[in-house]
Amino acid sequence: MRFFITSICTIFVNGYRRDPLLISVPFARSISIMDIPRKALIMMNQKVALITGAARGIGLATTELFIEQGWQVAMVDRDADELSAVAAKLTNVNAFVHDVSKPDQVTNMVASVQSQFGQIDAVVNNAGVADFGPIEKTDFERWRTVMSTNLDGVFLVSQAATSALKKTRGSLVNIASISGLRASTLRVAYGTSKAAVIQLTKQQAAELGEHGVRANCVCPGPVRTKLAMAVHTKEIIDAYHDAIPLNRYGSENEIAELIVFLCSDKASYITGQVIASDGGFESTGVGLPALRV
Ligand SMILES: NC(=O)c1ccc[n+]([C@@H]2O[C@H](COP(=O)([O-])OP(=O)(O)OC[C@H]3O[C@@H](n4cnc5c(N)ncnc54)[C@H](O)[C@@H]3O)[C@@H](O)[C@H]2O)c1
Repeated sequence: MRFFITSICTIFVNGYRRDPLLISVPFARSISIMDIPRKALIMMNQKVALITGAARGIGLATTELFIEQGWQVAMVDRDADELSAVAAKLTNVNAFVHDVSKPDQVTNMVASVQSQFGQIDAVVNNAGVADFGPIEKTDFERWRTVMSTNLDGVFLVSQAATSALKKTRGSLVNIASISGLRASTLRVAYGTSKAAVIQLTKQQAAELGEHGVRANCVCPGPVRTKLAMAVHTKEIIDAYHDAIPLNRYGSENEIAELIVFLCSDKASYITGQVIASDGGFESTGVGLPALRV
């Protein structure tokens, strides 16, 4: 006789449930509780991570790593098509289509995640947009577009999830950037939004620590995602290679490893920290290629 364990991946759009996607895994024989592998039993008490911007890039790599380590993931993104397509291929996830820059959507999203999963153990504020331009050409609308996702979004999602995180003594990881650590041309909005995220993380760590909630900030160096490739020309890519001691871009998975570590019990005494995963870019004072040995 053939039995099926069915994992249900449900898509939520602005708080409303869409048709569930059924993913069936065939098993060749019947199973009793004694047959359930230890990993599956642990999964009955799985932790839950809420990840914004989870449809692709660093957010998707982080989702996959959390799943690999036995967590469940609430995948949040405003791109409904991309999110439902990737979520349908994964198990132990639910997808929530919301825009993190909109306060009412954020409130609904966190309520839906709590009602679906019952708890939130980690929040990864990863959703971000990049728009590079000189100061005089960055009009207020462009400025607000960057700030509303990169800064307002982090504030809103963290705030909405705070009471849930207090209950689990969970953790926040906010994704900033090396652009928030070092100033550069063309990043008046992006760099400022990311510097603010670094400070916001320290505020969260200071205030939430007494409730057992940790907050840390990851600053990625360049990674070849859709976001980066939209603003990195061939010239910029070459210049980055020259300025980075490891001489290369990072991968999505290299950033995800740090994020998942910071959310894990292995990082239980780490809070208020800003950690660059950037091939050494930030630590290199005078990184002139001409000074290379
Ligand atoms: N890729 C890099 O080189 C790099 C470097 C430093 C920092 N970062 C940061 O890493 C994070 C992830 O970037 P990525 O490179 O994976 O980008 P990406 O463009 O591949 O993915 C970003 C995801 O966020 C989603 N998103 C954007 N705005 C949203 C909103 N308002 N509400 C909900 N979802 C939204 C997008 O739909 C997309 O799926 C960003 O915060 C980015 O600033 C990236």
